[in-house]
Amino acid sequence: MIILGLESSCDDCSAAVVEETVEGPLLRSLVRESQDAIHGPFGGVVPELAAREHLLQVRSVIAGALAQAGLGLQDLDRIAVTRGPGLVGSLLATFSTSKALAWRHGIPWVGVHHLLGHLHAARFAAPDLAFPALVLLVSGGHTHLYLAQDWTSLHLLQKTRDDAAGEAFDKTARMLNLGYPGGPLVDACAQAAVRAGDPFTPPKFRDGKASWSFSGLKTGVKLRVERNPRLAEAGASDPEVQGLCRSLQEAIAAWLLKPVPELAREHGARSLVISGGVACNSRLRAEAAAMATRTGLRLAIPEPRLCTDNGAMIAAAGAKLEPASEPWSQNADADLKWGA
Ligand code: KG4
Ligand code: ZN
Repeated sequence: MIILGLESSCDDCSAAVVEETVEGPLLRSLVRESQDAIHGPFGGVVPELAAREHLLQVRSVIAGALAQAGLGLQDLDRIAVTRGPGLVGSLLATFSTSKALAWRHGIPWVGVHHLLGHLHAARFAAPDLAFPALVLLVSGGHTHLYLAQDWTSLHLLQKTRDDAAGEAFDKTARMLNLGYPGGPLVDACAQAAVRAGDPFTPPKFRDGKASWSFSGLKTGVKLRVERNPRLAEAGASDPEVQGLCRSLQEAIAAWLLKPVPELAREHGARSLVISGGVACNSRLRAEAAAMATRTGLRLAIPEPRLCTDNGAMIAAAGAKLEPASEPWSQNADADLKWGA
């Protein structure tokens, strides 16, 4: 089965062609247009600008993915597109285009939950993943830990009470004037550090409920910069800035992985999947590998270009879902807050 996967829920416009085989999904092409130059000066995604840019990008991204795969629309067995959650104007660019293409060319169509897409990114590297699996989805908008019994069912175990882990990276980069998007820049800065700065104190929850909180990190970085204003201007080559980035990254990786061993025991999990943009993080990847060795969990982290938002993960998820019977009807609409 040949699937065209489309994703534009935030600030990446992406299309991919995936071939679903008995051994698992094969990536035939992947195209992604970045909007970093547009949002960079604002230090974050501006929804209206993102929507307009997606409208300009969507046709060339689809044409590019088909050309790279050496295929035409007539070769597609299915079109899969992100249905939600996400920014409305952004989502609608690929969502509406995909419905029109499906209708015009009679191609089966399926709407995909964005987070299910992130899970399916792991199928490219681990098509025979052992279930049950713990699934840690960490991005700029989500920090959620699920239990999955198979590739299509996600049961939420815990999530952040406030900011997503990606936000802590992005806002730190902003306060240190490192550039945009923040995650990869903080990561590079942390890797250059000779030693870590002062550690960040983990939050305590009085109600005892399992969860995360990352907004305190933002305040922690802000206080350090207020105490030492030089940090805001010193740049990525400064040892103190590097040390701060390293302690931030160490804290985030440790906090994210902390609940995993106990929950894995409790639910008899055999694998750990980590996906979403923050799964690109070098420290998180290294710590997760060490934890997997210690606990006997099989680890599946997609290659970095499949961790951040992309059309391939949506195609891979769409391959496992039932196509909608009437995608052009009013019932098949984007769902901005779909089961977040
Ligand atoms: O999954 P994604 O592409 O988009 C959302 O669905 O949010 O994730 C984007 C997030 C951003 O916050 C970005 O800074 C973060 O992933 N990110 C990283 C790294 N690469 C991307 N965070 C930490 N380290 C990285 N290497
Ligand atoms: Zn995402």
